[in-house]
Amino acid sequence: MKHLLKLADWSTEEIYEALDLADRLKYEKKKGIPHRLLEGKTLGMIFEKSSTRTRVSFEVGIHDLGGYGLFLSSRDLQIGRGEPVEDTARVLSRYLDGIMIRTFAQKEVEDLAEYGGIPIINGLTDYCHPCQVMADLQTVREHKGDLNGKKLCFIGDGNNMANSLIVGGIKTGMSVSVACPTSNRPDAEIMKWAEKTGRFVCTDNILEAAAGADALYTDVWASMGQEEEAAERRKIFTGYQINAEVMAAANPGAMVMHCLPAHRGEEITSEVFEAHAGEIFDEAENRLHAQKAVMVLCMKN
Ligand code: CP
Ligand code: NVA
Repeated sequence: MKHLLKLADWSTEEIYEALDLADRLKYEKKKGIPHRLLEGKTLGMIFEKSSTRTRVSFEVGIHDLGGYGLFLSSRDLQIGRGEPVEDTARVLSRYLDGIMIRTFAQKEVEDLAEYGGIPIINGLTDYCHPCQVMADLQTVREHKGDLNGKKLCFIGDGNNMANSLIVGGIKTGMSVSVACPTSNRPDAEIMKWAEKTGRFVCTDNILEAAAGADALYTDVWASMGQEEEAAERRKIFTGYQINAEVMAAANPGAMVMHCLPAHRGEEITSEVFEAHAGEIFDEAENRLHAQKAVMVLCMKN
């Protein structure tokens, strides 16, 4: 059974297969060519955190594919009142053909896969955000023509986005640099794995990380679940921002990426955000196409 629990579980070939399919589905959607590849299939979408892009793109995506999506908020599910995930998994597997889940602990996603008998897709945990990075890779390839040999630089918190970007970037042949405070580095195991390829650096020097980058990426300083730490985090991350100085260190024509939602004036200046809004909203659009590809690859018979 094929799941997308984290990008590390997918080979380079599997990731490229998803990117190629995402490109095809995007083309077909623009041309109005139907692609009902999951006719009659049902996808449960469990949300234990807020969402705009993930929720809407999965719901529209499963509809485009000829299936049906059920939005399941943990505020309403028994899981929110403590029903064990292993029981929820075994029940939902009897009704559905696949589950997308957004939650806190990566273990919950792994447990759903272990106890359920249907494909599980990770729609963000505190550890990673693989669907976002599928869309990100599709967007870099669209704008830069290729991923292999390109340099991706992430600036900010060593969070779920940083973790998935390192894995996705390295697996597709990019070099990846991360600029973050030493107190907030990405996952140690992921960094160890990436360092072995010789195509990864993590530094607290923003301009050094940005030097020669083809794509600059950032994300919020306080993620979902960290709202109470926001003031403290603002102090820790001051300066870890994509601004004109950072743009000048990158390759001429470097693109700017943000998974959104964005906090202008914190991780990115309003000027840089608006100058690169075309790329950032292409990236948001590609959530739809990339996730349709992921659903097809996981849920087709
Ligand atoms: N980027 C992203 O996952 O957005 P949402 O939180 O709105 O789903
Ligand atoms: N790091 C952010 C990503 C949002 C898409 C969060 O987890 O809130």
